[in-house]
Amino acid sequence: MKKVLVINGPNLNMLGVREPEIYGKMTLEDINSLILKKAEELNIQVKFYQSNIEGEIVNSIHSAYNNFDGIIINPGAYSHYSGAIYDALKAVGLPCAEVHISNVFAREEHRHNMVTAGASKGVISGFGAKSYILALEGLFDE
Ligand code: DQA
Repeated sequence: MKKVLVINGPNLNMLGVREPEIYGKMTLEDINSLILKKAEELNIQVKFYQSNIEGEIVNSIHSAYNNFDGIIINPGAYSHYSGAIYDALKAVGLPCAEVHISNVFAREEHRHNMVTAGASKGVISGFGAKSYILALEGLFDE
């Protein structure tokens, strides 16, 4: 059975409260339940991690090495400026899908700069909570 680490970055613990007109009303727990349900269907084991701290996210990516088969990550605002998260994803070399709830390209200019995305196999942006499901479905596709 494949194992996937699902990492959420800063402010995603505030989903449900945070700008619901952009991010919807689901909490991170609600989204994780949806992911878990889809993972069971796909026979994939998932583990969830959230942190607001860049270095902790880097550590969690490192912890996936030798322990997981792939990573799904929503780096939050770090997506737009974290060379450290990009390097960590490249370092472990696992297949990775970067996820965004909102369509970052339809938003402010500073969100168009995608620093971490180049370390992923693919990027899914703008499908709300379903972005995570699409990532799970596509992560191990050849
Ligand atoms: C986000 C988009 C980022 O620009 C923002 O900083 C977030 C959430 C998304 O899921 O749409 O925190 O990653």
